[in-house]
Amino acid sequence: MQLPEKVKIVEVGPRDGLQNEATPVPVEVKLALIRKLEEAGLPVIEAGSFVSPRWVPQMASSAEVFRAIDPKPGVSYPMLVPNRKGLDAALETGVKEIAIFAAASESFTQKNINCSIGESIARYSDVMQGAEQAGVKVRGYVSCVLGCPYEGEIAADRVAEVAGRLHDMGCYEISLGDTVGVGTPLKAQRMIDAVSQVVPVAQLAAHFHDTYGQALANLFAVLQQGVSVIDSSVSGLGGCPYARGASGNVATEDVLYMLNGLGIETGIDMDRLLQAGQYISEHLQRQPASKVARALTAKA
Ligand code: HMG
Ligand code: MG
Repeated sequence: MQLPEKVKIVEVGPRDGLQNEATPVPVEVKLALIRKLEEAGLPVIEAGSFVSPRWVPQMASSAEVFRAIDPKPGVSYPMLVPNRKGLDAALETGVKEIAIFAAASESFTQKNINCSIGESIARYSDVMQGAEQAGVKVRGYVSCVLGCPYEGEIAADRVAEVAGRLHDMGCYEISLGDTVGVGTPLKAQRMIDAVSQVVPVAQLAAHFHDTYGQALANLFAVLQQGVSVIDSSVSGLGGCPYARGASGNVATEDVLYMLNGLGIETGIDMDRLLQAGQYISEHLQRQPASKVARALTAKA
């Protein structure tokens, strides 16, 4: 069996993890979480988004959060951007990396960003041009790659088409989102087979939510195809406001435990990661969704 020697974990907790929280999380708490994630060794920490505060109120403090980050060398702090207005806000804030987010489902695109897939691609080419001029790196997301909360099944070639457009536009990495967490391993592999026809597998990331408890199995399946970037959220926080019933991302602790067991290098310290998870779980007054966090904490 072929597995990558190293995996890069992209921590999306401060953005994807918190965006759906109904009670505002104070800026100091977001910053303390980001600091603890840096201490744990996460190389990429998605810190927030420049979206409409009416649509996603929890992310309204993103500029304030970003400005207060004391960037750790070697760590990047991408911010989500849906349009030119978001890019302008990001540039004004001094952001060095953004993520644009499209989807393989028309209905989800409408609910999430209020336009069609075609319109979103046109908007993003404009964002891409502005980002290139400013020397800002751009990551691309495709949502609903293994199913849509409104349309159900999504064909792998539709995912490949949208992923290919974002890649052609200049995104350095394409993150494939199982937004609702409905996928299963063979389906995940077939989707990667289709997408890797148009985007090299080294530029793909797996962004799997764990609603049906399949995320680790799906990740193990796509690791065998050469995917070596995994998005996850500390403590398994989160969910998308436009994907009703979807639970959090796969927990970073669970991913790390699996990768450690497979002998795959990540550079992440489990004890420190557990501390980050405990911190935010205590703040939210919630048990971590991560089974590994619960098991290791109980043992300690
Ligand atoms: P719209 O209503 O069509 O936008 O929303 P508009 O251009 O007509 O503007 C309406 C108002 O929004 C105006 O303000 C604009 O200024 C303002 P008003 O005049 O009414 O006061 N506005 C903005 N404000 C701040 N920042 C901006 C911005 N743009 C317009 N960038 C829009 C379109 C895209 C803005 C809206 O639909 C939106 O913000 N959606 C947020 C979507 C979102 O954040 N979703 C969650 C993230 S995606 C996700 O979680 C999936 C992912 O994790 C991968 C996976 O799991 O699959 C990435
Ligand atoms: Mg997500």
